[in-house]
Amino acid sequence: MQSVSEMNAQGLIDTARALVAGDKGLLAMDESNPTCNKRFAMVGIPQTEEARRAYRELIVTTPGLGECISGVILYDETIRQRKKDGTPFIKVIIDAGIIPGIKVDTGAKNLAGHPGEKITEGLDGLRERLAEYFQIGARFAKWRAVIAVGAGIPSRGCIEANAQALARYAALCQEAGLVPIVEPEVLMDGEHTLNRCGEVTEDVLRTVFGQLFIQRVALEGMILKPNMVLPGLTCPKQEGVDEVADATVKCLLRAVPAAVPGIAFLSGGQSGELASARLNAMNVRFKSRRPWALAFSFARAIQQPALEIWHGREATVPAAQQALYHRARCNGAARRGEYNAAMERTWA
Ligand code: 13P
Repeated sequence: MQSVSEMNAQGLIDTARALVAGDKGLLAMDESNPTCNKRFAMVGIPQTEEARRAYRELIVTTPGLGECISGVILYDETIRQRKKDGTPFIKVIIDAGIIPGIKVDTGAKNLAGHPGEKITEGLDGLRERLAEYFQIGARFAKWRAVIAVGAGIPSRGCIEANAQALARYAALCQEAGLVPIVEPEVLMDGEHTLNRCGEVTEDVLRTVFGQLFIQRVALEGMILKPNMVLPGLTCPKQEGVDEVADATVKCLLRAVPAAVPGIAFLSGGQSGELASARLNAMNVRFKSRRPWALAFSFARAIQQPALEIWHGREATVPAAQQALYHRARCNGAARRGEYNAAMERTWA
């Protein structure tokens, strides 16, 4: 007979594989209240709980969303919310064939003794929170570490502390039957080059996988959510799509064990079109040379056009949902290596 931990391990592997199956990917809609309010403020939407609820209802009721989206990442407020007609979001999501997940870190705070660097918090009480989220229906969880690039940073202290926190979170998730989405994000801000981003990303990933090993995390039952390897936003040299794809996958091939079933990129502030084009190029250029699925777990690169169209108005919900569905489809096509600029012109 299988032991409980073996059954647990098989469940984790099945969920992790389902999250990156076919040409699907994840939709991150786990903005914390302050972050969601910030996005609303930028386009002039009132920053209220009801506006956040209405926006998330728009997202989870988008017709056809489950065709390209395997899982959605929720926030603590959102996982408890309901549609206007009283149906819990979690039921809407599951009925759409989508796996519900939850953001469980409590945010990045200043790292003591390390000016300009952050450490992600949220380990205290995490075991109990994970048990509650599992009971509500979540089957995976996300934790984001933030690594800034600049003069003299990132430091060893920042990389090691964040990697250890990620590994402790991942081990607790697997104990609770939740697939950990391990997200070490090297930020785009700054004038660093593509090469420098590649060096930092490789260092961070090697350190993270070292810590995951030490904390006995089963790689088969997790998903990695990394940044793409990109030049800093204000770097004078901005490489093309193919160079970004090559730098990203070469870095991942060096640092990510083949036992990991899937890599689902964050978008990090890239436009929707660029994020799709870069993911597409990776899947075209490394079609037969990569051991893991190369998928997406975008927030802004899927949501932003829909948010702008919606603008807090009931009448624009169908158009906003079409925009959201379109971006999800583009990323599904990018997973197959079939995305092209013409897709952007033919949907509306
Ligand atoms: P972006 O795709 O907007 O970077 O968000 C992904 C995410 O989940 C950040 O934690």
